[in-house]
Amino acid sequence: MKIGIAVHSKSGVTLSLAEAAAGRLRERGHEAAVLPLEPDGDVQPHQKDVRLKSTPDCRVFDAILVGGPIWAFGMSPVAMAFASGLGDLAGKRALPFATMGFRMKFLGGAQGVSALGGILRSKGALVLPGVIASAWASRSDAEKNAVIERIVALLEG
Ligand SMILES: Cc1cc2nc3c(=O)[nH]c(=O)nc-3n(C[C@H](O)[C@H](O)[C@H](O)COP(=O)(O)O)c2cc1C
Repeated sequence: MKIGIAVHSKSGVTLSLAEAAAGRLRERGHEAAVLPLEPDGDVQPHQKDVRLKSTPDCRVFDAILVGGPIWAFGMSPVAMAFASGLGDLAGKRALPFATMGFRMKFLGGAQGVSALGGILRSKGALVLPGVIASAWASRSDAEKNAVIERIVALLEG
């Protein structure tokens, strides 16, 4: 599969998850590209009118992961803006993902991937269950690997 991983990351945590997932997907024989999303200017939590410096073209991918950090109990507005700007995703799989500081997923993670998944569904994608990496930065390697394997299993399932 050709897989695009569009990711917003302010302090590098979500990017590290995206890169680890891309590495594992390549080991599994997929083509995986990490597509960093950068806002044009400062962005506040829940901001609606976010502009991106550039928008990666996702037409070539069979599956698209879109993710970012949880900010103020919601998905990164940068990831939300990117998803909102996507064209028709009919026939593609999409997987929303997030990293968050707290360990309890109801403190933003669940809401965030659900909202992002809703946008991806509205574009016609087959939306896979969202993956939430809570307190990713402080997780053990074994816990991180479990999150990565979940992403792989969902995409290949
Ligand atoms: C403005 C702001 C708001 C945040 N709000 C939440 C939150 O509501 N819940 C949570 O679990 N973590 C929250 N965090 C923590 C981040 O989600 C977490 O550190 C994330 O892994 C950072 O990802 P990044 O390094 O890719 O930017 C917040 C961080 C920032 C900067």
